[in-house]
Amino acid sequence: MSQDLAGQTAVITGGVRGIGLGVGLHLAGRGCAVALWDVDPDGFDPDAAGFAPALVERVDVADEGAVTRAARAAEARLGHVDILVNNAGINGPVRPVADYPLREWERVLAIDLTGVFLCCRALVPGMVGRGYGRIVNVASIAGKEGTPGVSAYCAAKAGVIGFTKALAREVVTAGVTVNAVTPVMAETAILAEMTPEHIALTKAKIPMGRLVTVEEIAATIGWAASPACSFTTGAVFDISGGRADY
Ligand SMILES: NC(=O)c1ccc[n+]([C@@H]2O[C@H](COP(=O)([O-])OP(=O)(O)OC[C@H]3O[C@@H](n4cnc5c(N)ncnc54)[C@H](O)[C@@H]3O)[C@@H](O)[C@H]2O)c1
Repeated sequence: MSQDLAGQTAVITGGVRGIGLGVGLHLAGRGCAVALWDVDPDGFDPDAAGFAPALVERVDVADEGAVTRAARAAEARLGHVDILVNNAGINGPVRPVADYPLREWERVLAIDLTGVFLCCRALVPGMVGRGYGRIVNVASIAGKEGTPGVSAYCAAKAGVIGFTKALAREVVTAGVTVNAVTPVMAETAILAEMTPEHIALTKAKIPMGRLVTVEEIAATIGWAASPACSFTTGAVFDISGGRADY
């Protein structure tokens, strides 16, 4: 089945850097018109990114009104939205549960989990109405395994997996597939903030002995976002170099 996305349209949240940007480059390279939603889009440079998005919008995915307005703007500009990649996310502080501030817990849940719900709620009706859609939610290995110190992040990402399965079954006969991916740590700018020891420990937990690249994550998401992913829904695509055992 074709991997060509000419004539298709996508919304990518958290799309102006990191994994979201890599997904944008991948989808645009296959002919897809891409809208990037990001809470902080000011630094976006199409020349540096290597593609020209159809839209770059300032959207906080945790803000119900902003998501609704952006969805209507995307549908007006793009005609319709075929693909939604829910990628926006934050880690939150690294603190044990006993010291984890409620405000930070709520902020991480609002962006990493409620944001996925809000974006799906805004764009799924259009997909169901047209009888076609592909949703890919970016969870994390942390949502399967649990990582000490980032309980809110783990809870949110586990929630994304459960939400993915529920929505997939709600729209299962509507031509809309809903899947999640669970990457391990990627080779991104975030590594600059980590000690070499922490990076080495992380690599040691991955049977393939290295971190994942943004291109590898984008390729998996790109498949799940394409017409080729026609009979797989409610699934969780592991991108962990053999680390995840379920
Ligand atoms: N980098 C990794 O190693 C890794 C591993 C597993 C999963 N993930 C997940 O992949 C996704 C992307 O991670 P990344 O490493 O590219 O992160 P990143 O911090 O480089 O990029 C995240 C993007 O999301 C945007 N964003 C943050 N809060 C937002 C909000 N409220 N509304 C809209 N946009 C917002 C940021 O401005 C940024 O552009 C996240 O969901 C993250 O949890 C990352």
